[in-house]
Amino acid sequence: MCGIVGYAGDRPCRDILFRGLRKLEYRGYDSAGISVITEGQFDLLHSVGNLDRLEEILNQMPNQSHLGIAHTRWATHGRPSNENAHPHLDCTGRFAIVLNGIVENYLALREQLQGEGHEFTSETDAEVVAHLIERAFRGDLREAAAEAFRQMEGHFTYVAITTEDPETMVAVRKETPLVIGLGEKENFLASAVTAFLSETRTVIFPDDAELVTVTRDSVVITDLDGNVIERQAEEVDWDEDAAEKGGYETFMLKEINEQPTALADTLAERVTHEGRVELEGLGLEDGDIRRLRQVIIVACGTSHHAGLVGKYALEKWARLPVEIDVASEFRYRDPVIGPDTLTIAITQSGETADTLAAMRLARQAGSKVLAITNIVGSQATREADGVLFTRAGLEIGVAATKTFEAQVLAVILLALYLAEVRGHLADEYVKQLTEEIRRVPTMLNGYLEDGRLAQIEAVATRYAKERFFLYLGRNIGLPVCMEGALKLKEISYIPSESYAAGEMKHGPIALLDEGSPVVVVATDGHTYEKLISNIQEVKARGAHVIAVASEGNKAIADMADEVFYVPKTDEVLSPLLATVPLQLFAYYVATANGESVDQPRNLAKTVTVE
Ligand code: G6P
Repeated sequence: MCGIVGYAGDRPCRDILFRGLRKLEYRGYDSAGISVITEGQFDLLHSVGNLDRLEEILNQMPNQSHLGIAHTRWATHGRPSNENAHPHLDCTGRFAIVLNGIVENYLALREQLQGEGHEFTSETDAEVVAHLIERAFRGDLREAAAEAFRQMEGHFTYVAITTEDPETMVAVRKETPLVIGLGEKENFLASAVTAFLSETRTVIFPDDAELVTVTRDSVVITDLDGNVIERQAEEVDWDEDAAEKGGYETFMLKEINEQPTALADTLAERVTHEGRVELEGLGLEDGDIRRLRQVIIVACGTSHHAGLVGKYALEKWARLPVEIDVASEFRYRDPVIGPDTLTIAITQSGETADTLAAMRLARQAGSKVLAITNIVGSQATREADGVLFTRAGLEIGVAATKTFEAQVLAVILLALYLAEVRGHLADEYVKQLTEEIRRVPTMLNGYLEDGRLAQIEAVATRYAKERFFLYLGRNIGLPVCMEGALKLKEISYIPSESYAAGEMKHGPIALLDEGSPVVVVATDGHTYEKLISNIQEVKARGAHVIAVASEGNKAIADMADEVFYVPKTDEVLSPLLATVPLQLFAYYVATANGESVDQPRNLAKTVTVE
């Protein structure tokens, strides 16, 4: 997830572009850049690190230009560096582009372009766009940008400018944001309204595959063939704070709603057209994978819960024994580790002190270490033998949501990949699973758009004053419960306990009383019937059951007091859907009680101390 800004107008644009980037800093900030056209020539600045670094060198660029583009980067392909920072230029230095998103077929395009003599200067997927436009340019930037778009797969937005037509910028989007701001003798482009809100509130939201051609005095929207499309401008009444949150009340709610994109990004390029999983950068040869005798997963907090889901997937598909521990315990044990052990460290930030220490212990004992992390260039990436990146984008809410979903998907893909290499699964079965995995982001998107949030909010508001919640689940539903209960604790401060449903009779059942709320994850799966017995046991004590169940399960409505239905999917994939109503439940309980969900008391987003 990166931030893009473009400006064409009467005013010198360098500082306008920089101010726009500042407003998009929440979208990522590992490197940044600006490109403007002055007297028919590009001026270009790149910097590594947050925007303060760019600000320090901003004066090196004259502030005379009236057209330019800028970018704040959140690395997905290629580490944060000057070479990988946007804007990117083509070989001739006549075209500059900024891109947000992922070009899934960039490797094939890059090879093709290199074969034709194009020279690349970065490791990014984005750079292909500059070369594609260079190749397609016949005097019209819009046509060249359309031609590039036709050849690209993935989900992305890009803005292109050229010294051949220094008054014009052209942008196009596909499943990622783009907004046009209309001003007096000036126009803007950006990833989010917030970038230009202090300049104008008159905006147009173009659709996918619509070419937007912008000059000082005009905005023209066409389809890829050049036919003009009429779009009405609208006025936005958000304040700055709301705009940064994309119109949502909080970052947490925004990030919950970004989960389908986080999943689609994490999945991109990792499933082949034949339905096989392909993962790069793991630091494991096929021979290493076949020799594995054991997997150890270490992580903290929410990442630990993602690891628990991974345990089920790895055992079921890759037939590897999996041991999982919280990193703060693991680091002080004397674990049995050998050269045939793979240690997987899951850490969103890549900086959690206990997880890093656990990684070091495992490496010293001779294990290969694979990090699953969201942050390119983080400490975990430097200390691991290999890395599998989640691509959830920057997460600001302290309570992890979209990074959890991306971690679960990453570990599921890893389990499938190891299973493939170890020859444990039939190709046809893997294909069915990957087809189902590909459907999940769309299913989740539909779920979030379907008005279900209102039901969850209503239930949460009714239960918001309860003093204790018990969460029950079995098998792969258990980590979902643990994550749901953790979310509730973190942001609403209401005590909650998550328990294996079959173990409830050995203790927690004593906590239940008339009306005690019990949240049960009862999605379809091979332990479903067992769970129903547990629901009956709970009901017999007068407790109130809030169930998460698969769509189509009508019978559960007779047993549970409330049901949050989620789309039906493969059992191992079910946490990707079942967790979401529990995130929302915790969210709405907290907001009903007036808590500050983005910054819960006593918690930190990244814990770099022991
Ligand atoms: C903190 C955060 C949690 C997170 C945990 C592990 O406690 O508040 O949301 O799950 O650290 O962080 P990591 O970056 O290693 O995933």
